[in-house]
Amino acid sequence: MKYLLTTYFALLLCSPMAMQSVSANDEKTNIATLRNHTPIEEQQPTKGIPKVINNDKVQMRNYPMQPPLIPHTIRGYEVNLNSNKCIACHSRQRTAESLAPMVSVTHYIDREGNFLAELSLRRYFCNQCHVNQTESKPLVENSFVDMHKLMKQKSQQQ
Ligand code: HEC
Ligand code: HEC
Repeated sequence: MKYLLTTYFALLLCSPMAMQSVSANDEKTNIATLRNHTPIEEQQPTKGIPKVINNDKVQMRNYPMQPPLIPHTIRGYEVNLNSNKCIACHSRQRTAESLAPMVSVTHYIDREGNFLAELSLRRYFCNQCHVNQTESKPLVENSFVDMHKLMKQKSQQQ
């Protein structure tokens, strides 16, 4: 107990110093952090949670293997051991009724390459790969260029 308490107080004493060295380091190396160079001891007012785009418009994929963005809100849609709200609309058996696009065939293939009758467990947790788009500015700069644009640029150079 005594040992535990000593460690606790030692940690308490050390932590402000540790914090200062982190923020000083941040300024020195000029690393663009998501905290936008706010010292660790300070707290900026929060910007609020951005709105989810819920317009039901399928968005173009940036490359063929991209998991498509979810064009509808998924608030309250549970995916856990007992239920999976997403497959209630997106599984093969449900699409005629829900009018949702069926999950593609890759979602029925297990890791050995076998085609299954049911959704593969590798694709059970939909939100591992599929996300909503929010009305917000990118947090960091992104220099991604679509493959078709690259190919066009190349053919113009020749
Ligand atoms: C109530 C039915 C319903 C539920 C539940 C549902 N979806 Fe959808 N989803 C749709 C419909 C309908 C569309 C077609 C576009 C639209 O109308 O929004 C769609 C579109 C999509 C797309 C776009 C597909 C593409 O080709 O671009 C993705 C990805 C998606 N849903 C993922 C999910 C995930 C992940 C969940 C669970 C968190 C989920 N959906 C739950 C009905 C549903
Ligand atoms: C491990 C990543 C991963 C998981 C988990 C996953 N997906 Fe996908 N999904 C993808 C990728 C990648 C694509 C596009 C390429 C393809 O079809 O495999 C896709 C495509 C889709 C499409 C479009 C199908 C089409 O033919 O246009 C829908 C709808 C979809 N997924 C829904 C879901 C739902 C619902 C779940 C959960 C039950 C889910 N996905 C789980 C990666 C994933």
